[in-house]
Amino acid sequence: MSSNNNNESTDKFASKDIQNKLLQLSEENILLKNTVKTMQDQVDKIKREQVIYLQNVSHQLVAPLNAMKWHIENLTAGRIKTSDRIQKVLRSLYSQATIAVHLAKNFALMSNLEADITLSAQREPLELVDLKRLMVNLADDFQPLGWEKRVHIVVDDYPLSDSPPVLAIKNLISQVFSNIIENAVKYSTPDTEIDIFGQYNPNDDTVSVNVANYGIPLPTEEIGRVFERGYRSENAKNVYPAGTGFGLYIADKIIAIHEGKITAHSDKGGLTIFQVKLSVKGLQGKTIQRDAKDSSNRR
Ligand SMILES: Nc1ncnc2c1ncn2[C@@H]1O[C@H](COP(=O)(O)OP(=O)(O)OP(=O)(O)O)[C@@H](O)[C@H]1O
Ligand SMILES: [Mg+2]
Repeated sequence: MSSNNNNESTDKFASKDIQNKLLQLSEENILLKNTVKTMQDQVDKIKREQVIYLQNVSHQLVAPLNAMKWHIENLTAGRIKTSDRIQKVLRSLYSQATIAVHLAKNFALMSNLEADITLSAQREPLELVDLKRLMVNLADDFQPLGWEKRVHIVVDDYPLSDSPPVLAIKNLISQVFSNIIENAVKYSTPDTEIDIFGQYNPNDDTVSVNVANYGIPLPTEEIGRVFERGYRSENAKNVYPAGTGFGLYIADKIIAIHEGKITAHSDKGGLTIFQVKLSVKGLQGKTIQRDAKDSSNRR
């Protein structure tokens, strides 16, 4: 064989090798382009969701603020004469303010929780929280929302009053129960009762609190979805068209940070129960803790 022939076959191999490499590179290029495209689609989706969320929250905030403005205008212009009517307007003012504060808190939490999902990353310390007292305060806050539907919120004194306080970030836990109680009021049938009850469980040193209401059905196949970000059932949309579907998602995230448990139960008769279980001392030493004396008298 001549050396010329040898060179030719080596060249052929080299060019085949280059061709294979080029083919591989172009396949990798396509894969990379697809990955970039998927990532870009995800970023666009998140941006769209953020815009929708912002629009939704500001739209929802405008409604109670406008109602409050309108009531104040009527009061200051002396258009409301009888003391009965004045009482009614003041009650409505109170419940509209409750809705606005509640929405603003959820809004702030939403951005915090998306970024910081650990206990120590939260800006507030742990403190001893008396769940019975918290429930009574929240029931007072949300009762005006139920007046129009004649829905009454009742907190059972016993056995919750015998429970020890739990170590938790009070503002966050308060928002969890606010979201659950607000739902119970919104989705209750008129002329029913919301029952809040709880107990200490000595076996695992936890306290459970339940919020039970009668209202729109929550079928078992939907229970798993209610903690998803943005999920709202068709029933919920019919009863209460405005809503972000973020309330229980936020509640679930906060309870996860506290290493607790949040569950939902329902029956075919329209009874829905949300249960939150928190450890009494489970979080001790896991992050900074406020002195018990500091927090005992604050709401
Ligand atoms: N007490 C309840 N009874 C029946 N269904 C409920 C109850 N609480 C929650 N749900 C269902 O869970 C869904 C999610 O609740 P979530 O609080 O996250 O959102 P939302 O109440 O629809 O909106 P938002 O809290 O922003 O006002 C509701 O839309 C509803 O379908
Ligand atoms: Mg809600």
